[in-house]
Amino acid sequence: AAFQDNFLIGAALNAGLTQDKDPRMSALIAKEFNSITPENCMKWGVLRDAQGQWNWTDADSFVNFGTKHKLHMVGHTLVWHSQIQDEVFKNADGSYISKAALQKKMEEHITTLAGRYKGKLAAWDVVNEAVGDDLKMRDSHWYQIMGDDFIYNAFSIANEVDPKAHLMYNDYNIERTGKREATIEMLKRLKKRGMPIHGLGIQGHVGIDTPPVAEIEKSIIAFAKLGLRVHFTELDVDVLPSVWDLPVAEVSTRFEYKPERDPYTKGLPQEMQDKLAKRYEDLFKVFIKHSDKIDRVTFWGVTDDASWLNGFPIPGRTNYPLLFDRQLQPKDAYFRVLDLK
Ligand code: XIL
Repeated sequence: AAFQDNFLIGAALNAGLTQDKDPRMSALIAKEFNSITPENCMKWGVLRDAQGQWNWTDADSFVNFGTKHKLHMVGHTLVWHSQIQDEVFKNADGSYISKAALQKKMEEHITTLAGRYKGKLAAWDVVNEAVGDDLKMRDSHWYQIMGDDFIYNAFSIANEVDPKAHLMYNDYNIERTGKREATIEMLKRLKKRGMPIHGLGIQGHVGIDTPPVAEIEKSIIAFAKLGLRVHFTELDVDVLPSVWDLPVAEVSTRFEYKPERDPYTKGLPQEMQDKLAKRYEDLFKVFIKHSDKIDRVTFWGVTDDASWLNGFPIPGRTNYPLLFDRQLQPKDAYFRVLDLK
């Protein structure tokens, strides 16, 4: 793994990748990365069915893969509003269960999951995405029922179950003004109550031009100031036309597929390869500059074909967000990043 001296360098693995079906992929991962995160298989709604039954197959195979290749492993994620069944929060008549009942479910969940992999996973994304796009606390079932305690208690339980694990709060867009400040306020409030937290995960789903690296740098500095280690947990660079900042008249079409929103179906033109390489170079320059504050940079995937950004926010597009192409070959961006070492 190329960047070991500066920080851990990781990749999110989908369930298929950890089953060693494609030896070329396994070799690539073991050679290029030294940390792994499960892309989906440790999420509540993937690991458990609506009745709460556990299916450990993929999570176990993830941990076995990491153990076999001696990789640093991050658990993702214990408490999140997404990819979880409504049944966790609601009675049969649709009303919310009580705070005490949800607290009990949370305890059982974290104790079972973090307990199973204690000593194997080095770190956990304990709570994911608790701050809303409106910069208030996200209006999730968790928050509705438990308030701030859903975060405080999740970290406290995780710390009790696995006292050696590095515990992180993880969120997107916190490398930008606005959500950065809202998140800092929330973390200060919770730290004041004595919440055991060690790290901050900046997901890092960034655009080809935005946010500017100066913004990202501000966030690294601000989060480190809270006494937290900084992690880039889900880095990728979306090269397709953004539908987040459309003119008002077009906002209602945001999630519609249009050919002009999918311009690179036949491959990424060289000029865009260059732009992507430059973007990654600029990002890693900042990461290296602040390597005293950063523990890890993890990519959200390995090769472009398997990236979630082919399907988000519009399904059926062809995206090029990562360092390895659809033939498993390193892209220009890969060499530009390595040149910085
Ligand atoms: C994404 C996965 O990559 C997709 O396969 C899945 O369909 C949805 O979730 N923030 C997170 C990740 O914390 O868990 C999300 O992963 C991407 C956004």
